[in-house]
Amino acid sequence: MTHMTPHVAETFVFQAAACRSLGSPFTANLCELLLKNLNDSSRFGGRIINWPDSARADALALRACGALHWLARSGNARELAALYPPLETKPEVLWEAIADAIVRHDDALYDFLDSPPQTNEVARSSALLGLALRLAGRLRMPLALYEIGASAGLNLAFDRYHYLLGEEREWGDSDALVHIDSEWRGNLPPLETELEIASRAGCDRNPLDPHDPASVERQLAYIWADQHERIGRISAALTAAAAMPYAVDNSDAADWVEAKLAEPPLEGVARVFFHTIVWQYLPRAAKDRITAAFSEASAAATEATPLIWMYMESEDHPAGAILKQTVWPGGELETMGLADYHGRWVDWV
Ligand SMILES: C[S@@+](CC[C@H](N)C(=O)[O-])C[C@H]1O[C@@H](n2cnc3c(N)ncnc32)[C@H](O)[C@@H]1O
Repeated sequence: MTHMTPHVAETFVFQAAACRSLGSPFTANLCELLLKNLNDSSRFGGRIINWPDSARADALALRACGALHWLARSGNARELAALYPPLETKPEVLWEAIADAIVRHDDALYDFLDSPPQTNEVARSSALLGLALRLAGRLRMPLALYEIGASAGLNLAFDRYHYLLGEEREWGDSDALVHIDSEWRGNLPPLETELEIASRAGCDRNPLDPHDPASVERQLAYIWADQHERIGRISAALTAAAAMPYAVDNSDAADWVEAKLAEPPLEGVARVFFHTIVWQYLPRAAKDRITAAFSEASAAATEATPLIWMYMESEDHPAGAILKQTVWPGGELETMGLADYHGRWVDWV
């Protein structure tokens, strides 16, 4: 029986190391089990081990782990589910259950591999809350939100969640459906500032529907199985989002930004465009179009119709994602802080 081709094997080795460093030993072990044992005796196995050169770019290892987690959560593979976290299982026992599940559910697992992993990390809302509080304190006007690459739109509701921000600091209604634990350090944003959201809009090239149970289950499957807090938090946020009166537009980022910026601004409302962990997925041409659209629209921004572009993006910093913003009129690019990719902490400048 054939095992993984070298570039596929390399993807699983890379993903195991990444999962271990990001706090998911279970998914790291799962990647290593698949690396060692998967073969072409099933359609699922054959498809993975012979994946084209794009394996790493396609996040193949996360597709495979997502497929198995989805099956374990589905209720259709109880023997496998029983060995998933929180239980700690010997690798050879877990592999036996996985091998059996692959035989029984081969077609469904094979089909799950079709789409790239996509989730919506709601704890990134902690960084957005801080940025918005600073803006509200500075501009003293309501904010109209526009999120680029919003996924399920969970972070468009950042002001509806309850936050524990370290050192006995809290923000929001403690009865909120969603609780976010995120340690704020450094030069903290003004927690007492009044925050008024005038409107919410978002776009994604593949919006995830919080009303669709299959879409919700798929999103939860991509969250690493031993990260119970993330699963609980995102699950609660999806429930909350299903009751919110806005939807994410199915649109390409550059088209959408150009169209939204072409709409006449309202006097006394600040337009706040933002994105979290999206920029790296946009082609060069889309980035150039978005940058040009801001450059053009910003020329017309006034004190009564300010325009903001803010983001949390990788920018290759080794410790986390950089928070930056530009406020027009003015137009200075300001560095606001550094945030953990999953929102566990924010270091404010
Ligand atoms: C890593 S996810 C981040 C989602 C969300 N911003 C978050 O922080 O949880 C990247 C998102 O960008 C979206 N995306 C990628 N390219 C896009 C494009 N050209 N236009 C619109 N959305 C895009 C993807 O569909 C996906 O939802």
